[in-house]
Amino acid sequence: MKIVNVVGARPNFMKIAPLMEEYANDPSVEALLVHTGQHYDEKMSDLFFRQLGIPEPDINLEIGSGSHAVQTAEIMKAFETVVLDHRPDAVLVVGDVNSTIACGLVAVKLGVKLIHVEAGLRSGDRSMPEEINRVLTDSISDLLFCTEQSGVDNLAREGIAPEKVHMVGHVMIDTLLKNLERAKSSTIVDQLKQKGWIDGEGCFAMLTLHRPSNVDDPSAFGHILDALEQIQQDLPILFPIHPRTRKNLVALGLQERVDALENIHLMEPIGYLDFLKLNSCAKVVLTDSGGVQEETTVLKIPCITLRENTERPVTAEIGSNQIVGTDPKRILAAYEKTKNGHWREPQIPPLWDGKAAERIVRIMKETIACESGQAV
Ligand code: UD1
Ligand code: UDP
Repeated sequence: MKIVNVVGARPNFMKIAPLMEEYANDPSVEALLVHTGQHYDEKMSDLFFRQLGIPEPDINLEIGSGSHAVQTAEIMKAFETVVLDHRPDAVLVVGDVNSTIACGLVAVKLGVKLIHVEAGLRSGDRSMPEEINRVLTDSISDLLFCTEQSGVDNLAREGIAPEKVHMVGHVMIDTLLKNLERAKSSTIVDQLKQKGWIDGEGCFAMLTLHRPSNVDDPSAFGHILDALEQIQQDLPILFPIHPRTRKNLVALGLQERVDALENIHLMEPIGYLDFLKLNSCAKVVLTDSGGVQEETTVLKIPCITLRENTERPVTAEIGSNQIVGTDPKRILAAYEKTKNGHWREPQIPPLWDGKAAERIVRIMKETIACESGQAV
């Protein structure tokens, strides 16, 4: 069974790592790894390959940044050649980034089966570029792997044949569980203590922001800063900053405002292990990331999501997540509630047990390999 696997952006790397490891233990699978180059900075890409032991991509399309249309089109043009050259039994895509839909479309138009890992998630917000990528990728996939029950339900509602859909748990959580012990020995907390930024474990908030609806919009970004201004008077905030957000701080004229806040500490994007260590011992995490809502649920660290909705409802229903949007009053109310310990003990969602990749590869072999007439 020959599978071409696609990654492009930061959250894809944690998701592909356990699958590549699973394939490596199985001589019946020939796995190629293609990096589209959507993310390319050392700290947005290569660092994760090294830390997570992901093999070097067999092919890097080196597409880089661009508008949605340009980036998607360039990836499609370059990826078509890869599929024609390698003629895989299936193409596997993860998540909801532009690389996901671009490579998915190329595969199905060449008659190659498409596998989507992290299928069925829906925010219900069609202004979110990822929501378009999710809906379209799911509608053309042959095999769909879900992380939570809402995904299975959404796909059923959209008329996807149930035999194509499998609830398997979460490959990103496979990676978290595998690396948690290693992350504990990270020295990042001591380093930041020495800098005088934090007093130690449990004495700081983590912050990540990169959603266009927050960081491309001066009003939304301004509202978030209003709340952060208050919170940083109470607790230092560590802010590993995404390149989109760094660029926009300057473009929207907000850099000086942030620089004036003594207790918000901007950092370069940080590696997986340091980030995991910091999240695992933060007092609270404020974020608009998709994956971070899930990771904090497993870590049982309070998460305040600075968005109006989530495509990962299980994190709010049984996990540690509160969805509050960008209204400073709501952000501060959630912060106070968390600080005063007024939140219930979170639970771990079903099948988030570190074995999702194992399940996915087994099901792939039962379906894809059998359909192409190979012995399993
Ligand atoms: C992308 C995904 C988003 C995901 C996020 C994870 C899409 C539509 N969006 O958003 O779903 O949550 O990645 O981090 O696919 N840039 C750099 N260096 C890099 C990468 C990007 O400087 O290595 C800058 C460029 O100025 C670029 C901007 O960041 O224009 C945005 O990058 P892009 O990949 O288009 O979208 P993200 O905001 O990163
Ligand atoms: N992450 C990281 N360093 C950072 C920020 C995030 O290692 O500075 C990891 C995080 O632990 C999670 C993934 O990146 O595994 C989430 O990616 P991101 O927030 O960029 O994308 P999203 O999940 O919103 O699509």
